[in-house]
Amino acid sequence: MLTPKEKIYILAIESSCDDTSAAVSCNKLLLSNVVASQQIHEQYGGVVPELASRAHQRNIIPVVHEALKRANIDKDQLHAIAFTRGPGLMGSLLVGASFAKGLALSLNIPLIDVNHLQAHVMANFIEEQDIENKQPSFPFLCLLVSGGNSQIILVKSHKDMLIIGKTIDDAAGEAFDKCAKVIGLPYPGGPYVDKLAKEGNPNALTLNKANLIGYDYSFSGLKTSFLYQLRDKSKENLNFIEDNKADICASLQHAIIETLMSKFKKAVSDYKINDIALAGGVSANSGLRNAFTDFALKYNKKVYIPKLTFTMDNAAMISISGYYKYLENDFCDMSLPPFARVII
Ligand code: KG4
Repeated sequence: MLTPKEKIYILAIESSCDDTSAAVSCNKLLLSNVVASQQIHEQYGGVVPELASRAHQRNIIPVVHEALKRANIDKDQLHAIAFTRGPGLMGSLLVGASFAKGLALSLNIPLIDVNHLQAHVMANFIEEQDIENKQPSFPFLCLLVSGGNSQIILVKSHKDMLIIGKTIDDAAGEAFDKCAKVIGLPYPGGPYVDKLAKEGNPNALTLNKANLIGYDYSFSGLKTSFLYQLRDKSKENLNFIEDNKADICASLQHAIIETLMSKFKKAVSDYKINDIALAGGVSANSGLRNAFTDFALKYNKKVYIPKLTFTMDNAAMISISGYYKYLENDFCDMSLPPFARVII
C-alpha cells in the first residue's frame, strides 16, 4: 500500500489504432496527454493497418518526449510504464508495446499492461487539476461505443468488468462511418453525420433496427437497409442523396441511437442500476449524449460522460487504468505479447 504522501509517476502509451498517444500522471491526477492523429487514412476512407504502424513508429518518440515535457517530469522520475496491450491492430499495438517494454527495461521500472476497452470505461475516472471530477459509484453500467466495439459493461470495480452485451457483427462507429461513406462524407464519417443530422428529419427513412435476444447488438442489417433504400430512392431521383443529406443523416443517427439505447435501458432496468456512463469515440455524438442524459433525467439515474478528449483513443485513460493496477502490484512480464481481439 502507498503512504498518503507517496507520489507515483506513470507514463502511459496508447497505440491501438490510428492515434499515437502518451500521457503522464501523478497518482490519479493527469499531468499531460498528447495525441498525434494520423491524417493519412482519410484518402483511403478507413484505417490502413500498415500505414498506421509506420506512422506510430515515426510519432512515438516525439509524442512521449512532449508528454514528459508538458508534465515537467524527467524520465528518471517515472515509477512505471503502462501500455495498451489490446485489442487493436496488431502492427500498431506492437509499436507501443515494444517501446514501453524497451523504456521500462532501460529504466528498470515495472511494466503494466492495460486492456484498451477497460481503459475507455476508466476514462470516467481521469482527474485533472482544477477541474471538478464526479465519478460513478460501483456497480455501474457503461455503454462503450467506438469504431470497433459496441458493448454494455457491468463495472463492479476499477478492474472487475463484465461484458453483458456486445455487437455480434459491426460496431456503432463502423455503422456511422460506412453509411457516411455511401453518401460521400469524408472518413471518419461519424462527426459529419452528427453535424448534418441536427438539420434533418429523423423519421425520413425507416431503417432496420435489429432486436436480438438479451443485450447484444447487430448493425449489419441497418447498414444493408440504408444502402438499399438509398439505391432505390436514387433510381427515382438521381440527386436523392444530395437533396436529402440532412434527413438521411438524421435518420441514420436516430436508428443507431435507438438501437443502442433500447438494449442499454433494458440492462439498466434488469440490473437495477443507479449510475450510468458512456465511453468510446461515438460517445462524442450529440444525439447519443442527449438521449443518454434524457433517459437519466426521466428515470432519476446519475449520468457520467467523459470530456470529449477522453472519449477518443488517448493515453490518459491508460495512465489512470495503470495507476489502479500499480496500487495492486499488478505488473506484467516483458514476454507478454499484445492481443488483437477482445478479451476483457
Ligand atoms: O474510440 P474511437 O476514437 O476509436 C476507435 O474505435 O478506433 O472511436 C472512433 C469512432 C469512429 O467511428 C468515429 O466516426 C466515431 O467514433 N465518432 C463519432 C463522433 N465522433 C467520433 N460518431 C458519431 N458522432 C460523433 N460526433
